[in-house]
Amino acid sequence: MIEDLDDLQKKAEDEIGAAGTESEFLAIRTRYLGRKGLLTGVLRNVGQVEPEKRPLFGKRCNEIKEALSEKIEKALERIADLEKEEIFLRDRIDVTLPGRKIKYGRSHPISQVCREICHIFAGFGFAVVEGPEVELDYYNFEALNIPKNHPARDMQDTFYIEDNIVLRTHTSPVQIRTMEKQRPPVRILSPGRVYRPDSDISHTPMFHQIEGLLVDRGITFGDLKGVLTSFVSQMFGADISLRFRPSFFPFTEPSAEVDMQCVMCRGEGCRVCSHSGWLEILGSGMVDPEVFKNVGYDPEEFTGFAFGLGLERIAMLKYGISDIRLFFENNMRFLEQF
Ligand code: DAH
Repeated sequence: MIEDLDDLQKKAEDEIGAAGTESEFLAIRTRYLGRKGLLTGVLRNVGQVEPEKRPLFGKRCNEIKEALSEKIEKALERIADLEKEEIFLRDRIDVTLPGRKIKYGRSHPISQVCREICHIFAGFGFAVVEGPEVELDYYNFEALNIPKNHPARDMQDTFYIEDNIVLRTHTSPVQIRTMEKQRPPVRILSPGRVYRPDSDISHTPMFHQIEGLLVDRGITFGDLKGVLTSFVSQMFGADISLRFRPSFFPFTEPSAEVDMQCVMCRGEGCRVCSHSGWLEILGSGMVDPEVFKNVGYDPEEFTGFAFGLGLERIAMLKYGISDIRLFFENNMRFLEQF
Protein backbone atom coordinates (compact mmCIF):
# COMPACT_ATOMS: atom_id res chain seq x y z
CA MET A 1 0.00 0.00 0.00
CA ILE A 2 2.70 2.46 0.98
CA GLU A 3 4.50 1.82 -2.31
CA ASP A 4 1.25 2.67 -4.08
CA LEU A 5 1.38 6.01 -2.30
CA ASP A 6 4.84 6.73 -3.70
CA ASP A 7 3.60 5.99 -7.20
CA LEU A 8 0.62 8.23 -6.67
CA GLN A 9 2.85 11.09 -5.49
CA LYS A 10 5.22 10.63 -8.42
CA LYS A 11 2.36 10.63 -10.88
CA ALA A 12 0.80 13.74 -9.37
CA GLU A 13 4.14 15.56 -9.33
CA ASP A 14 4.74 14.70 -12.98
CA GLU A 15 1.35 16.13 -13.85
CA ILE A 16 2.06 19.28 -11.85
CA GLY A 17 5.38 19.61 -13.66
CA ALA A 18 3.66 19.37 -17.05
CA ALA A 19 0.78 21.71 -16.23
CA GLY A 20 0.86 25.37 -17.20
CA THR A 21 -2.54 27.00 -16.96
CA GLU A 22 -4.71 27.84 -14.00
CA SER A 23 -7.42 25.45 -15.12
CA GLU A 24 -4.91 22.60 -15.50
CA PHE A 25 -3.68 23.07 -11.91
CA LEU A 26 -7.23 23.31 -10.61
CA ALA A 27 -8.07 20.05 -12.40
CA ILE A 28 -5.06 18.29 -10.80
CA ARG A 29 -6.10 19.59 -7.40
CA THR A 30 -9.59 18.17 -7.85
CA ARG A 31 -8.30 14.90 -9.27
CA TYR A 32 -5.98 14.15 -6.32
CA LEU A 33 -7.10 16.25 -3.38
CA GLY A 34 -10.79 16.81 -4.03
CA ARG A 35 -13.55 15.14 -2.01
CA LYS A 36 -13.69 12.31 -4.55
CA GLY A 37 -9.99 12.61 -5.41
CA LEU A 38 -7.44 9.79 -5.69
CA LEU A 39 -5.57 10.58 -2.47
CA THR A 40 -8.79 11.05 -0.55
CA GLY A 41 -9.91 7.66 -1.88
CA VAL A 42 -6.71 6.00 -0.65
CA LEU A 43 -7.11 7.55 2.79
CA ARG A 44 -10.67 6.30 3.00
CA ASN A 45 -9.32 2.72 2.55
CA VAL A 46 -6.98 3.00 5.52
CA GLY A 47 -8.98 0.12 7.09
CA GLN A 48 -7.39 -2.34 4.69
CA VAL A 49 -3.88 -1.49 5.95
CA GLU A 50 -2.39 -3.70 8.63
CA PRO A 51 -3.02 -2.02 12.00
CA GLU A 52 0.65 -1.55 12.91
CA LYS A 53 1.34 0.19 9.60
CA ARG A 54 -1.62 2.50 9.82
CA PRO A 55 0.08 5.44 11.61
CA LEU A 56 2.89 5.48 9.07
CA PHE A 57 0.43 5.16 6.23
CA GLY A 58 -1.64 8.05 7.57
CA LYS A 59 1.43 10.20 8.05
CA ARG A 60 2.60 9.56 4.45
CA CYS A 61 -0.83 10.37 3.14
CA ASN A 62 -0.83 13.70 4.96
CA GLU A 63 2.70 14.50 3.83
CA ILE A 64 1.81 13.83 0.23
CA LYS A 65 -1.35 15.85 0.57
CA GLU A 66 0.51 18.82 1.99
CA ALA A 67 3.33 18.60 -0.54
CA LEU A 68 0.96 18.44 -3.49
CA SER A 69 -1.19 21.19 -2.04
CA GLU A 70 1.76 23.46 -1.57
CA LYS A 71 3.06 22.88 -5.09
CA ILE A 72 -0.32 23.56 -6.63
CA GLU A 73 -0.97 26.69 -4.53
CA LYS A 74 2.45 28.06 -5.39
CA ALA A 75 1.85 27.45 -9.09
CA LEU A 76 -1.54 29.18 -8.88
CA GLU A 77 0.01 32.13 -7.06
CA ARG A 78 2.68 32.41 -9.71
CA ILE A 79 0.05 32.44 -12.44
CA ALA A 80 -1.89 35.16 -10.63
CA ASP A 81 1.29 37.25 -10.26
CA LEU A 82 2.12 36.86 -13.93
CA GLU A 83 -1.38 37.94 -14.85
CA LYS A 84 -1.09 41.03 -12.68
CA GLU A 85 2.24 41.90 -14.23
CA GLU A 86 0.81 41.48 -17.70
CA ILE A 87 -2.04 43.83 -16.87
CA PHE A 88 0.43 46.27 -15.38
CA LEU A 89 2.65 46.19 -18.45
CA ARG A 90 -0.30 46.52 -20.79
CA ASP A 91 -1.77 49.50 -18.94
CA ARG A 92 1.50 51.15 -18.16
CA ILE A 93 1.55 54.92 -18.57
CA ASP A 94 4.78 56.62 -19.43
CA VAL A 95 4.44 59.83 -17.46
CA THR A 96 7.56 61.25 -19.09
CA LEU A 97 5.97 61.37 -22.57
CA PRO A 98 5.06 64.87 -23.80
CA GLY A 99 1.29 65.53 -23.64
CA ARG A 100 -0.93 65.42 -26.71
CA LYS A 101 -1.77 68.86 -28.02
CA ILE A 102 -5.44 69.80 -27.82
CA LYS A 103 -6.72 71.44 -30.99
CA TYR A 104 -8.84 74.44 -30.17
CA GLY A 105 -11.87 75.17 -32.30
CA ARG A 106 -12.67 78.67 -33.43
CA SER A 107 -15.51 80.63 -34.94
CA HIS A 108 -15.98 80.67 -38.69
CA PRO A 109 -14.68 83.94 -40.19
CA ILE A 110 -18.23 84.86 -41.23
CA SER A 111 -19.42 84.37 -37.65
CA GLN A 112 -16.50 86.45 -36.39
CA VAL A 113 -17.27 89.34 -38.74
CA CYS A 114 -20.98 89.07 -37.92
CA ARG A 115 -20.27 89.31 -34.20
CA GLU A 116 -17.96 92.25 -34.72
CA ILE A 117 -20.56 94.19 -36.74
CA CYS A 118 -23.32 93.42 -34.23
CA HIS A 119 -21.00 94.61 -31.48
CA ILE A 120 -20.32 97.92 -33.24
CA PHE A 121 -24.03 98.55 -33.82
CA ALA A 122 -24.87 97.55 -30.25
CA GLY A 123 -22.82 100.62 -29.38
CA PHE A 124 -25.37 102.72 -31.34
CA GLY A 125 -28.24 101.03 -29.46
CA PHE A 126 -29.28 98.53 -32.16
CA ALA A 127 -30.83 95.28 -30.90
CA VAL A 128 -30.27 92.01 -32.79
CA VAL A 129 -33.41 90.27 -34.10
CA GLU A 130 -33.79 87.27 -36.38
CA GLY A 131 -36.37 86.18 -38.94
CA PRO A 132 -37.28 83.01 -40.85
CA GLU A 133 -35.19 81.85 -43.82
CA VAL A 134 -38.23 80.26 -45.47
CA GLU A 135 -40.32 83.34 -45.98
CA LEU A 136 -43.69 84.38 -47.34
CA ASP A 137 -43.64 86.19 -50.66
CA TYR A 138 -45.51 88.96 -48.84
CA TYR A 139 -42.66 89.73 -46.43
CA ASN A 140 -39.82 89.11 -48.88
CA PHE A 141 -41.34 91.23 -51.64
CA GLU A 142 -44.81 92.72 -51.44
CA ALA A 143 -44.66 94.51 -48.11
CA LEU A 144 -41.29 95.89 -49.24
CA ASN A 145 -43.00 97.57 -52.16
CA ILE A 146 -42.02 94.92 -54.72
CA PRO A 147 -45.38 93.80 -56.17
CA LYS A 148 -45.84 90.58 -58.18
CA ASN A 149 -44.67 90.87 -61.80
CA HIS A 150 -42.90 94.14 -61.03
CA PRO A 151 -39.56 94.42 -62.89
CA ALA A 152 -37.86 95.12 -59.54
CA ARG A 153 -38.20 91.40 -58.80
CA ASP A 154 -35.60 90.76 -61.48
CA MET A 155 -33.01 92.36 -59.16
CA GLN A 156 -33.20 89.27 -56.97
CA ASP A 157 -33.30 85.81 -58.53
CA THR A 158 -35.38 83.64 -56.25
CA PHE A 159 -35.70 80.06 -55.03
CA TYR A 160 -39.41 79.30 -54.82
CA ILE A 161 -40.76 76.70 -52.36
CA GLU A 162 -44.36 77.28 -53.43
CA ASP A 163 -46.17 80.08 -55.25
CA ASN A 164 -46.21 82.27 -52.18
CA ILE A 165 -43.29 80.82 -50.22
CA VAL A 166 -39.64 81.56 -51.01
CA LEU A 167 -36.19 81.17 -49.53
CA ARG A 168 -35.67 84.78 -48.49
CA THR A 169 -33.47 86.64 -50.97
CA HIS A 170 -32.43 89.28 -48.43
CA THR A 171 -32.80 90.09 -44.73
CA SER A 172 -35.10 93.04 -45.46
CA PRO A 173 -38.29 91.07 -44.62
CA VAL A 174 -37.23 91.24 -40.96
CA GLN A 175 -37.88 95.01 -41.16
CA ILE A 176 -41.53 94.32 -41.90
CA ARG A 177 -41.89 91.57 -39.27
CA THR A 178 -40.38 93.87 -36.65
CA MET A 179 -42.45 96.93 -37.50
CA GLU A 180 -45.66 94.85 -37.56
CA LYS A 181 -45.00 93.89 -33.95
CA GLN A 182 -43.53 97.09 -32.57
CA ARG A 183 -44.21 100.82 -32.54
CA PRO A 184 -41.35 103.32 -33.06
CA PRO A 185 -38.71 103.92 -31.90
CA VAL A 186 -37.23 100.92 -33.73
CA ARG A 187 -33.52 100.29 -33.82
CA ILE A 188 -32.67 96.77 -35.02
CA LEU A 189 -29.94 94.79 -36.69
CA SER A 190 -30.82 91.47 -38.32
CA PRO A 191 -28.09 89.08 -39.42
CA GLY A 192 -28.82 85.82 -41.22
CA ARG A 193 -28.63 83.52 -44.21
CA VAL A 194 -30.17 84.51 -47.54
CA TYR A 195 -30.51 82.60 -50.81
CA ARG A 196 -30.27 83.33 -54.53
CA PRO A 197 -29.62 80.95 -57.44
CA ASP A 198 -26.18 82.35 -58.28
CA SER A 199 -22.79 80.66 -58.24
CA ASP A 200 -19.42 82.04 -59.28
CA ILE A 201 -16.26 83.56 -57.80
CA SER A 202 -18.24 86.29 -56.03
CA HIS A 203 -21.63 84.54 -55.52
CA THR A 204 -22.77 81.46 -53.60
CA PRO A 205 -26.41 80.28 -53.56
CA MET A 206 -26.43 80.84 -49.80
CA PHE A 207 -24.77 83.87 -48.27
CA HIS A 208 -25.21 86.19 -45.30
CA GLN A 209 -26.60 89.66 -44.91
CA ILE A 210 -27.12 92.07 -42.08
CA GLU A 211 -30.13 94.34 -42.22
CA GLY A 212 -30.31 97.56 -40.23
CA LEU A 213 -33.40 99.64 -39.53
CA LEU A 214 -33.89 102.75 -37.46
CA VAL A 215 -37.28 104.50 -37.22
CA ASP A 216 -38.25 107.41 -35.00
CA ARG A 217 -39.48 110.97 -35.22
CA GLY A 218 -37.18 113.35 -37.12
CA ILE A 219 -34.69 110.82 -38.49
CA THR A 220 -32.81 112.21 -41.51
CA PHE A 221 -30.38 111.09 -44.18
CA GLY A 222 -27.72 112.80 -42.03
CA ASP A 223 -28.34 110.20 -39.32
CA LEU A 224 -27.83 107.43 -41.86
CA LYS A 225 -24.55 108.98 -43.00
CA GLY A 226 -23.36 109.48 -39.45
CA VAL A 227 -24.12 105.93 -38.31
CA LEU A 228 -22.58 104.28 -41.40
CA THR A 229 -19.49 106.50 -41.35
CA SER A 230 -18.87 105.66 -37.72
CA PHE A 231 -19.44 101.97 -38.43
CA VAL A 232 -16.92 101.87 -41.30
CA SER A 233 -14.27 103.72 -39.34
CA GLN A 234 -14.65 101.27 -36.44
CA MET A 235 -14.59 98.28 -38.78
CA PHE A 236 -11.84 99.30 -41.23
CA GLY A 237 -10.04 102.27 -39.71
CA ALA A 238 -10.79 105.95 -39.00
CA ASP A 239 -9.09 107.26 -42.15
CA ILE A 240 -11.31 105.33 -44.62
CA SER A 241 -13.71 107.69 -46.41
CA LEU A 242 -17.22 106.87 -47.64
CA ARG A 243 -19.10 107.78 -50.78
CA PHE A 244 -22.91 107.77 -51.08
CA ARG A 245 -24.03 107.09 -54.65
CA PRO A 246 -27.67 107.66 -55.69
CA SER A 247 -29.36 104.34 -56.41
CA PHE A 248 -32.74 102.64 -56.40
CA PHE A 249 -34.39 100.18 -54.04
CA PRO A 250 -38.17 99.76 -54.00
CA PHE A 251 -38.28 99.99 -50.20
CA THR A 252 -36.23 103.18 -49.75
CA GLU A 253 -36.57 106.70 -51.11
CA PRO A 254 -34.10 108.21 -51.63
CA SER A 255 -31.73 105.23 -51.94
CA ALA A 256 -27.98 105.16 -51.90
CA GLU A 257 -25.29 102.64 -52.50
CA VAL A 258 -22.39 103.16 -50.19
CA ASP A 259 -18.80 102.78 -51.32
CA MET A 260 -15.78 102.93 -49.13
CA GLN A 261 -12.27 103.82 -50.10
CA CYS A 262 -10.47 100.67 -51.25
CA VAL A 263 -8.79 99.11 -48.21
CA MET A 264 -6.14 97.47 -50.41
CA CYS A 265 -4.82 100.54 -52.26
CA ARG A 266 -6.27 103.35 -50.11
CA GLY A 267 -7.96 104.85 -53.16
CA GLU A 268 -4.99 104.67 -55.53
CA GLY A 269 -6.71 102.08 -57.74
CA CYS A 270 -5.88 98.37 -57.83
CA ARG A 271 -7.17 95.02 -59.04
CA VAL A 272 -9.51 94.57 -56.06
CA CYS A 273 -11.36 97.86 -56.70
CA SER A 274 -11.16 97.53 -60.52
CA HIS A 275 -8.85 100.56 -60.47
CA SER A 276 -11.65 102.84 -59.29
CA GLY A 277 -10.29 103.35 -55.77
CA TRP A 278 -13.78 102.53 -54.35
CA LEU A 279 -15.51 99.39 -53.11
CA GLU A 280 -19.27 99.02 -52.88
CA ILE A 281 -20.19 97.71 -49.43
CA LEU A 282 -23.90 98.17 -48.86
CA GLY A 283 -27.29 99.43 -49.99
CA SER A 284 -29.25 101.92 -47.96
CA GLY A 285 -31.82 104.68 -47.94
CA MET A 286 -34.69 106.40 -46.17
CA VAL A 287 -37.59 104.01 -45.57
CA ASP A 288 -40.17 104.45 -48.35
CA PRO A 289 -43.53 105.85 -47.11
CA GLU A 290 -45.24 102.91 -48.91
CA VAL A 291 -43.42 100.50 -46.57
CA PHE A 292 -44.56 102.47 -43.53
CA LYS A 293 -48.14 102.30 -44.79
CA ASN A 294 -47.88 98.51 -45.13
CA VAL A 295 -47.06 98.18 -41.42
CA GLY A 296 -49.47 100.85 -40.17
CA TYR A 297 -46.90 103.55 -39.37
CA ASP A 298 -47.86 107.14 -40.25
CA PRO A 299 -45.20 108.41 -42.72
CA GLU A 300 -46.09 112.00 -41.72
CA GLU A 301 -45.12 111.22 -38.13
CA PHE A 302 -42.17 108.89 -38.52
CA THR A 303 -39.11 108.67 -40.72
CA GLY A 304 -36.27 106.18 -40.72
CA PHE A 305 -33.34 104.72 -42.53
CA ALA A 306 -32.45 101.18 -43.52
CA PHE A 307 -29.43 99.45 -44.91
CA GLY A 308 -28.38 95.99 -45.97
CA LEU A 309 -24.87 94.66 -46.26
CA GLY A 310 -23.35 91.38 -47.40
CA LEU A 311 -21.29 89.74 -44.67
CA GLU A 312 -19.09 87.74 -47.05
CA ARG A 313 -18.21 90.91 -48.93
CA ILE A 314 -17.16 92.66 -45.71
CA ALA A 315 -15.15 89.59 -44.61
CA MET A 316 -13.44 89.34 -48.03
CA LEU A 317 -12.40 92.99 -47.86
CA LYS A 318 -11.30 92.76 -44.25
CA TYR A 319 -9.14 89.68 -44.82
CA GLY A 320 -8.18 90.17 -48.48
CA ILE A 321 -9.97 87.05 -49.76
CA SER A 322 -10.64 86.93 -53.49
CA ASP A 323 -12.97 83.91 -53.86
CA ILE A 324 -16.22 83.81 -51.85
CA ARG A 325 -16.52 80.02 -52.22
CA LEU A 326 -13.56 79.52 -49.86
CA PHE A 327 -15.86 80.37 -46.95
CA PHE A 328 -18.01 77.31 -47.53
CA GLU A 329 -15.56 74.62 -48.63
CA ASN A 330 -14.69 73.70 -45.03
CA ASN A 331 -10.98 73.55 -45.82
CA MET A 332 -9.35 73.61 -42.37
CA ARG A 333 -6.12 75.16 -43.71
CA PHE A 334 -8.14 78.12 -44.95
CA LEU A 335 -10.37 78.43 -41.90
CA GLU A 336 -7.58 78.10 -39.34
CA GLN A 337 -6.07 81.39 -40.47
CA PHE A 338 -8.76 83.47 -38.81
N1 DAH B 1 -32.14 94.14 -49.49
C1 DAH B 1 -31.16 94.74 -50.39
C2 DAH B 1 -30.47 93.62 -51.17
O1 DAH B 1 -30.43 92.52 -50.75
C3 DAH B 1 -30.15 95.51 -49.61
C4 DAH B 1 -30.72 96.74 -49.02
C5 DAH B 1 -30.70 97.92 -49.72
C6 DAH B 1 -31.31 96.70 -47.79
C7 DAH B 1 -31.24 99.07 -49.20
C8 DAH B 1 -31.86 97.84 -47.25
C9 DAH B 1 -31.80 99.03 -47.97
O2 DAH B 1 -32.43 97.86 -46.05
O3 DAH B 1 -32.34 100.15 -47.43
O4 DAH B 1 -29.95 93.87 -52.21
